[in-house]
Amino acid sequence: PDPSVTGPKRVLLAAPRGYCAGVDRAVIAVEKALEQYGAPVYVRKQIVHNVHVVSELEKSGAIFVDEVDEVPEGSHIVFSAHGVSPAVVQGAADRELQAIDATCPLVTKVHREAVRFSKQDYWILLIGHAGHEEVEGTMGHAPERTILVNDPDEADRIEVPDTENLIWLSQTTLSVDETMETVRRLRERFPHLADPPSDDICYATQNRQVAIKKVAPSADLVIVVGSANSSNSVRLVEVALEYGAKAAYRVDYASEIKQEWLEGVSSVGVSSGASVPEVLVEQVLADLKDAGFDDVEIVKTAEEDLMFSLPKELRTTATGER
Ligand code: F3S
Repeated sequence: PDPSVTGPKRVLLAAPRGYCAGVDRAVIAVEKALEQYGAPVYVRKQIVHNVHVVSELEKSGAIFVDEVDEVPEGSHIVFSAHGVSPAVVQGAADRELQAIDATCPLVTKVHREAVRFSKQDYWILLIGHAGHEEVEGTMGHAPERTILVNDPDEADRIEVPDTENLIWLSQTTLSVDETMETVRRLRERFPHLADPPSDDICYATQNRQVAIKKVAPSADLVIVVGSANSSNSVRLVEVALEYGAKAAYRVDYASEIKQEWLEGVSSVGVSSGASVPEVLVEQVLADLKDAGFDDVEIVKTAEEDLMFSLPKELRTTATGER
């Protein structure tokens, strides 16, 4: 315990946090594929952006690859929750791979929007991060008609071939506030810019940001469990700092928490990204308890009960529907 802090030391545990419906489905899809077809089952890219999840699945016989041409012909391959472009689907078919598509249905929704609006001759301004797998998959659905906008500053600079027929779409795991700022600055330059029919930033990303916004102003320190390449986890750290947390860090494992982070701290906010199993948060809470933070208050801002059915390739077995 830190002698510089007198009085109660508490944890503000954000809810919702952790697994979303799309991640849950994708991880179960790999487990079921291993069960049904036996190891190895190949997975294109990390099934979800979490180092722990990936290493556990590797132990069970999943082999993670970057591209389909690394996979032996005829094998089973799972496409990750972030989705793939039609070119990747075609590449898998060309190698006669048995594909299991674990793309989150909320990403598929954005893919469908991209196809539909490009057919209607819109130019799509896709707000998202260059190089992210989800962005590559979405752009691949309308490659000739999509222009990527990374952030508000880029909104001030991008050039479009037609200022009349423009619509914005987005990656599902962005900061809501920053995205709205990007849209505002785009619309200043392109007043005809149309809005998507519904939110592309998914419910899970939004709910986790709302919860951390409530926690942050009372937190001397915020710890977000999540991996470095997990967009929604990294956004939670940024949002915590914007909303008044004195400090905020991302960790993959509790063992990464540094003693000095806790010095002089009386309240620690805790959350986790949408790809993070709860066991990793429990470890953080256990370590905080050892450091004297044994009063845990749950700060709950929403209920979540969404569930998605498994990818269709896994839905039927010898015993029928699951
Ligand atoms: Fe899907 Fe959102 Fe999770 S897009 S995978 S529900 S973070």
